[in-house]
Amino acid sequence: MNDSPDLVLVVDFGAQYAQLIARRVRELHVYSEIVPRSTPIADMLARKPKAIIFSGGPASVHVPGAPDIDPAVYDAGVPLLGICYGAQLVARDLGGEVAKTGQGEYGRTELHVEGSSLLFADLPVDEVVWMSHGDSITAAPAGFTVTARTAAVPVAGLEDRDRGIYAVQFHPEVAHTEHGMQILKAFLFEAAGCRPTWTNVSIIEHAVAEIRAQVGSERVICGLSGGVDSAVAAALVHKAIGDQLVCVFVDTGLLRLGEAEQVEQTFREQFEVELVHVKAQDRFLDALDDIVDPERKRKTIGELFIRVFEEAAQDLGDARFLVQGTLYPDIVESGGGDNANIKSHHNVGGLPDDMEFELVEPLRALFKDEVRAIGEELGLPEEIVWRQPFPGPGLAVRIIGTITRERVEILQQADAVVVEEIRRAGLYREIWQSFAVLPAVKTVGVMGDDRTYAYPIVLRAVTSDDAMTADWARLPYEVLERISSRIINEVPGVNRVAYDITSKPPGTIEWE
Ligand code: XMP
Repeated sequence: MNDSPDLVLVVDFGAQYAQLIARRVRELHVYSEIVPRSTPIADMLARKPKAIIFSGGPASVHVPGAPDIDPAVYDAGVPLLGICYGAQLVARDLGGEVAKTGQGEYGRTELHVEGSSLLFADLPVDEVVWMSHGDSITAAPAGFTVTARTAAVPVAGLEDRDRGIYAVQFHPEVAHTEHGMQILKAFLFEAAGCRPTWTNVSIIEHAVAEIRAQVGSERVICGLSGGVDSAVAAALVHKAIGDQLVCVFVDTGLLRLGEAEQVEQTFREQFEVELVHVKAQDRFLDALDDIVDPERKRKTIGELFIRVFEEAAQDLGDARFLVQGTLYPDIVESGGGDNANIKSHHNVGGLPDDMEFELVEPLRALFKDEVRAIGEELGLPEEIVWRQPFPGPGLAVRIIGTITRERVEILQQADAVVVEEIRRAGLYREIWQSFAVLPAVKTVGVMGDDRTYAYPIVLRAVTSDDAMTADWARLPYEVLERISSRIINEVPGVNRVAYDITSKPPGTIEWE
């Protein structure tokens, strides 16, 4: 497909919901990307966006140093939607008033639509929206029409159709806003004239064309982990360039129980693609000896992966390109843009500086659910497409403290029990990730008539849509009970099981 999809840029003002806005836009089949607000307007416009959305943000426009934006954006002729903080910014920058009224609104709020409005056309006059703000817009700028209000706020929606500038104080992107999707739809399709062409088929066609353009007739290697991301990346590249692709599966010694055999079998059967299986358990475990710090673990593993791939590439006659299944959230979480660096995902921030490969990352703009959908479209088996995510550094980031062969074995066995029982309970697909963690402490117990002093296992099971946020899964007590008693009875070296009931935030999904 040579016709690029329409692009909507979401300018991030530090919002909790910036990702969600981009996801919602994509759900409406329009391609959307998040950009930090520090991006020069000229750079944004050079990408020819069909629309720009300002996200919310935690600041008050009245605080010195509050995030702002070059006002050139308002004269660019690109349709604009400001949400929450973004709405206040639009109002303030264009000559309206934003005040600390002392009347914040948080959560469920009744919205009353006024007069005729493009965003609220065809919607009921009164509806429920989700608010989260302290300051309020008290006067719209000249040229704007006030389109909605609430009991506490006189200007909850405003628009200047001639200039194509729209703003809402509430969050249309959250599910609690009754007609949020219709409002976004009206903005995208009526105000901005976007075309809904971002579909699975177009994503695949686009990726295939890009891969061909990037690699030409050269050889490409793809690191395969057995997870859905690298499998879909491999399938896409295979579709694009056929037998120029060689897949390399590295056994790091940090995989789940039986995984190496399973991956090899599945991929040899499913793909007619050359597969090299590198058995590098000793190299990885030796390199990790005595490393306790999570970031050092990731960097060590990231670097070693690359060395192993470089060796494989040499054996294959100097392949220059390396395919990785990096996803959009990996990039955002590794400190892309203005976001804080929470973890250097081994395949983004953990890459060595002297790496010689050019990366091919066909999934780098995609969220996990999009990857799964295109995996299905490409005909990958359900067993791969619906596999729970597994981090590239594997069990290394689930073994807290030092990694020894003995501790890897304990965790593999405990983890196998968790996966088996979650599957048996029919919960495997609805739970985002369920796994065991091995902490670096020992606790006292009693088994038979003897005192034990052994490791606890922490069970972690979370629900999530995209790993950006997560909640602990409300597992039935019977499932918890079976997992606990099986682990203690079947895994030597473990005498206690605890369940982690932390959401993300404030926790992360993995323990390291
Ligand atoms: P956290 O722990 O940051 O994890 O909430 C979010 C998602 O990313 C996975 N994860 C990783 N994946 N390399 C990866 O390929 C990594 O270094 C890494 N760290 C975390 C994690 O399993 C979850 O799905």
